[in-house]
Amino acid sequence: MPVELERRGPVAIATLNRPEVLNALSLEMLDELDTLLDTIERDPTLRVVVITGAGEKAFSAGADIRHMREASALEARAYAQRGHQTTSRIESFPKPVLAAVNGYALGGGCELALACDIRLASETARFGLPEVNLGILPGWGGTQRLARTTSSGFAKELIFTGRMCPADEALRHGLVNHVHAHAELLDRAVALGEEIATKPAWSISAAKEVVNLALDGDLRGHLARELDAFALAFTTDDQREGMAAFFEKRPPKFAGH
Ligand code: COA
Repeated sequence: MPVELERRGPVAIATLNRPEVLNALSLEMLDELDTLLDTIERDPTLRVVVITGAGEKAFSAGADIRHMREASALEARAYAQRGHQTTSRIESFPKPVLAAVNGYALGGGCELALACDIRLASETARFGLPEVNLGILPGWGGTQRLARTTSSGFAKELIFTGRMCPADEALRHGLVNHVHAHAELLDRAVALGEEIATKPAWSISAAKEVVNLALDGDLRGHLARELDAFALAFTTDDQREGMAAFFEKRPPKFAGH
């Protein structure tokens, strides 16, 4: 299955499972994640969700570039809208969702982690929004949620340079709550989930909803603007060049249009 569900007492572990492409998020994976969230939402014995990635290297290396390479602006918009659907669902899911970031969390992978309530990272985690290297920009909520979670300056630096940030730097900027040894990460995430699961379910769910309001400030409107900018990027030559260069494993040569 593209996403695996494991139950550990009250904690549901959803593992993104395409390690051969560093858990890049295909449409099938997003659909499967939604189906698992349906199951978890309906089961009162499951109180907390932990999302992690299969394999040693990645949480998720982002949206599937293969899927986007030849996309028109309208197709790219629809794909980003699908990403928004899943990230917004996680953000408003009635149970806490923790990200156990076990390696690369790039592009859509970083945006998925940002939609979670709490992020824990292993020492090997690397965060980034490298879309500019592909001639596009973040389109799954990253422009909004990275700025809201950290600071606009840090978000702009990561987005403008496309560079990766190691776990200790992510911790300093409030992008993650804790950094753990790689081998301990999942157990520590489950332990935090178990602690939360001892608390009253309704209070936790209501608290999540209300804390989210603290950061809301027309998130919906701004996400719509992000969708449009993301789609427009697919009308540029730089998008074709950026994605071709990725698969040809060479640095891109951007023309500026
Ligand atoms: N979409 C589709 N395929 C991806 C992918 C993505 N987001 N990220 C990685 N892959 C594939 C690679 O094409 C490669 O496939 P191949 O074995 O058929 O060549 C495989 O996953 C392994 O990746 P590779 O690049 O060879 O691993 P690496 O260890 O050299 O580099 C990364 C790791 C994460 C630095 C590099 O894969 C990367 O930059 N990925 C893209 C990240 C990105 O731009 N995400 C934003 C997307 S909007």
